[in-house]
This record gives sequence, C-alpha cells and structure tokens, in this order.
Amino acid sequence: MMEIPLKDLPLYNRDYDGDYPQVAREFKDAIAAVDAVLFVTPEYNRSIPGALKNAIDWASRPYGKNSFARKPSAVIGTSPGKIGTAIGQQHLRSILGFCNSPQMNAVEAYIQFEPGLITDDGEVTNDTPRNVEPSRCASQHGDPAGVIVPHPGFFLPWSDTNA
Ligand SMILES: Cc1cc2nc3c(=O)[nH]c(=O)nc-3n(C[C@H](O)[C@H](O)[C@H](O)COP(=O)(O)O)c2cc1C
Repeated sequence: MMEIPLKDLPLYNRDYDGDYPQVAREFKDAIAAVDAVLFVTPEYNRSIPGALKNAIDWASRPYGKNSFARKPSAVIGTSPGKIGTAIGQQHLRSILGFCNSPQMNAVEAYIQFEPGLITDDGEVTNDTPRNVEPSRCASQHGDPAGVIVPHPGFFLPWSDTNA
C-alpha cells in the first residue's frame, strides 16, 4: 500500500496535453505502477474536493492515455458531517465510472469523524465503524494498491455490513 501524492499538481489545462509537466507524469506513472487505487476522501459542498477532481482530470488525459481505464478502484471517506461523505463518494463513483475504472461496490464506508473516534494508536473508540485492514480492499484486486488521499491525515476504517 503506497500513497500517491497529488498536492503539487497544478490546475489541469488541456494545453498541457502535448507536454505534461514532470509532476503530472510522475502522478500518472504512480497510478500505472499499482494494481488498484483506494480513494480516501472528505466531502466538500456535497461533492469531492476540487484538488481530487483536478488530480483525476490529470490522470484521465491526454486523450487516449486515461490512467484509470480498467484500473480497479475503491472509495471510502470521512468528514464531520452526519452523512460522512456519502454524496461526495457517489460523485466520485460517477466520475470513476466515466473513467472506465472497475469499482469495488462493497464494502462501503461513510465515516462521521468526531474528536476521539480514533486513538493515537489507531484504535476505533466507537462501535459503529470497525477497523478493517485497508489492504483488504486492495486484496480483492491484488496488491499493491495505490492510495489517493486529497486531505492528508485521513484514516482508513470502514464498516462492512454489506460485505
Ligand atoms: C469548502 C468545504 C466544504 C465542505 N463541505 C462539506 C460537505 O459538504 N459535507 C461534509 O460532511 N463536510 C464538509 N466539509 C468538511 C470537510 O469534510 C472537513 O473539513 C474534512 O473532513 C476535513 O476535516 P478538517 O477540516 O477537520 O481537517 C467541508 C469543508 C470545506 C473546507
């Protein structure tokens, strides 16, 4: 499991398609190097953060070189809101569908983050989310998996009631 950084990507512009900057080449290379991608996202205005959409736009281009085509993916997320990124995750699933990424439909994880939910040792203090090894997600498609986390510091527990 490795994290694929996106914070240094400039705003995507189609003018780059003829000559991608190094940081965007490295981003696409990192996705190409993994068997699957686990997205761990917060929710911004009932969608995904612009930084994450920008990163996906970079990966999806130039035309004909879409990094997510047939690249398995999974989505989980957490935010302080009551619905724990549910709408943001659905938007992300829609985008990944268009990008032709086969998605893991279950397990789902909509985690409302509250102070103290996770201890410094990674222990979950609430009965609702069960702390499952994130590699379980990747294992459905084979390791290693890349992890795209638009907001550093997010954690990776999820509930598996539909597993
Ligand atoms: C611009 C913006 C929009 C947000 N919109 C939502 C939202 O629609 N739903 C939600 O649950 N949380 C929303 N949040 C809260 C973020 O999900 C939250 O900031 C994120 O989980 C990171 O937590 P932190 O700000 O405590 O680091 C929003 C935050 C920002 C900055």
